[in-house]
Amino acid sequence: MTSTLPIRLPLDGEAASGSRNTQLPQFEGSAHAKAILFGEHAVVYGAPAIAVPIHELAAEARVDSAADGLRIESELFSGEAAAAPAKLQPIVTAIHAALAYSGAQNAAIRVQILSAIPHSRGLGSSAAVAAAVARAVTNWAGVQLTTAGLYDIVQQAERVAHGNPSGLDARAVTSDGAIRFDFGAVSPVRIGAPLSFVLADSGLAGSTAEAVGAVRVRREQNPQAMDRYMSHLAEIAEGAIEDLARGDRFAIGARMRDAHDMLQAIGVSSATLDGLVLAANEAGALGAKLTGGGLGGCIIALAHSADHAEQLGSALRDAGATRTWTATVPTA
Ligand code: MEV
Repeated sequence: MTSTLPIRLPLDGEAASGSRNTQLPQFEGSAHAKAILFGEHAVVYGAPAIAVPIHELAAEARVDSAADGLRIESELFSGEAAAAPAKLQPIVTAIHAALAYSGAQNAAIRVQILSAIPHSRGLGSSAAVAAAVARAVTNWAGVQLTTAGLYDIVQQAERVAHGNPSGLDARAVTSDGAIRFDFGAVSPVRIGAPLSFVLADSGLAGSTAEAVGAVRVRREQNPQAMDRYMSHLAEIAEGAIEDLARGDRFAIGARMRDAHDMLQAIGVSSATLDGLVLAANEAGALGAKLTGGGLGGCIIALAHSADHAEQLGSALRDAGATRTWTATVPTA
């Protein structure tokens, strides 16, 4: 498999000699980012959610045999897994879970990780890295990884990262196409016309665990209003299924605007995210909303075309987005 990442990991032996060391085979795994189009947060309370793959951003893991121990090499930390900082515990969990799945608990391996997916931005970085690790480790072990096995490993890592994840991210980063997620069940979503999006980073980290916790507290304090918002988010996602199948961009955009208002009402937006949504709408987006846990992270805006998505990206950077990415979801 060739790397889809802008930066390439050095192949073993390459740094020293400039040529590939064919004595030490490396085993790879990758997974893509995701964006939640509809239903974040409400999904935790049983509402349907719709997520799309962002193939343009990927996480990659490489595994090879080591003399002893369990070594991790990544941008945030390189060293023995046992000494990894708290931030890396979801990855350590994924490695141990994948080794256990492979029946190789005590294996000595080196795991290299490189991800182009920014973390704490609602794009599924932690789930994608865990999925890439699961695929690379089981490849190294020569073990067939089932869909259920992959989901289970990613969920173990996600529990460490976010507390009590719905499972939406684990499914979204391992599904090739758009998905509908209902109480853990996944089904493909028909896309009647290609959809061009732009994702814009607020530059502020958003903690999913914190956002989910804040919604839980607000719901305990004000159950009637919160349940009304959640029901409306469920209706938006339900209705969007038809719009997506018809490829009706105007209707999808209108639902995105509506969904952002509801996410604002449940308290997971922020002044920065609202400002970016406004800027996207003023620049001619069909609709825009925060995506993922919120309280930071990214917004997603729907464009008329791929060129228009580039223009929206430029307008959003002018409005303060620290980074933007364009993505296309093809007809399916
Ligand atoms: C986070 O990407 C999505 C949330 O709905 C949390 C979850 O589904 O576990 C906010």
